[in-house]
Amino acid sequence: MKKRYLLAPGPTPVPERVLLAMAMPILHHRSPEFEPIFQEVRDGLKWIFQTANEVLLFASSGTGAMEGAVTNLLSRGDEAICVRGGKFGERWAEICKAYGVVAHNIDVTWGEAVDPAAVREALKKHPKTKAVYFQACETSTGVGHPVKEIAATVRENSDALIICDGITGIGVNDLPVDDWGIDVAVAGSQKAFMLPPGLAFASVSARAWKSAETADLPKYYFNWKTEHGAHLKNQSAWTPAVSLMIGLREALRMMKEETLPAMFERHARLAEATRAGAQALGLELFAPKSPATALTAIKGPEGIDTGKITKTLRDQLGVTIAGGQSQLKGKIFRISHFGYVTRFDVLTGLVALEIALQSLGYPVKLGEGVKAAEERLGL
Ligand SMILES: Cc1ncc(COP(=O)(O)O)c(C=O)c1O
Repeated sequence: MKKRYLLAPGPTPVPERVLLAMAMPILHHRSPEFEPIFQEVRDGLKWIFQTANEVLLFASSGTGAMEGAVTNLLSRGDEAICVRGGKFGERWAEICKAYGVVAHNIDVTWGEAVDPAAVREALKKHPKTKAVYFQACETSTGVGHPVKEIAATVRENSDALIICDGITGIGVNDLPVDDWGIDVAVAGSQKAFMLPPGLAFASVSARAWKSAETADLPKYYFNWKTEHGAHLKNQSAWTPAVSLMIGLREALRMMKEETLPAMFERHARLAEATRAGAQALGLELFAPKSPATALTAIKGPEGIDTGKITKTLRDQLGVTIAGGQSQLKGKIFRISHFGYVTRFDVLTGLVALEIALQSLGYPVKLGEGVKAAEERLGL
């Protein structure tokens, strides 16, 4: 028998409570039964995004909300700044290019966070910039970008909109969208929301809605004004992912029971323990200066392709983590520790890592990584 453990940075594990909630018979979305569900979900999203503004829901993966954050805010020929420090930063630039937006890219060394000074420089160089796009957490490199500082820099130096991909940030780190002046934050269900993939979210500020008035890029399904109008009537424009929304209601209830501060503290502690565990095994962190909270990116030991590590973990030990993408393929591996994850999941991941490394010929003293992690977990 093989029991599977999911420690990849999305999809993340789904709690039994949420699975059971989603197993209830399907409801019609234009019915009195569905209305209170939608209302509770809308309220809960405002709570987790820490915003008074409406948070839009879409039946798509996170990229759908990213695309909408370009097409609903900008017009052909507009200028934008994209922070490119990994695969997902590249995605912002690709979406802009696809729609004829002129993207000025800040290329950040993979494994490092963007320096807010570089954002200031770019804004000075490109004063017509309408929006600045960046990640809270660059999942491909395991880097946490300084969201608060970036947002403050943009505000101080321009009128550009501040657009944060919080797909592996919202619900993991404290990201008070309104307090920090983030105009649009996007997120996805398969991350900290502890749901299967299929829902995307976007909080939209008053400034962003003003821009939406004149934005002329083509859109239909992801027309935010249409969706917003429907949401304000406690409806969705199109057929919503009913079962996922019922699951979301349950997941939000679980998050509320835990409370935001406890959730952020748990994630921070799990991240610290994972880093300590990896380092105790003699491994090097890929992003030591600004490691993400959602996941830890670890360099493969000299001479070992990290594809072998992820394969051994998955096929022999039943533990799914993620490898490196693009230029990092074979070079790093990534262990996730957010969403429905506790200290015992982190320890399981480290035990499995020790066993896998040993079987691949890397000198490991079994238990050393686990011990270092346990010490950080306050067990
Ligand atoms: C930071 C970040 N942005 C964007 C995405 C893309 O989201 P999706 O795969 O849900 O479209 C991901 C997914 O891993 C991500 O981690």
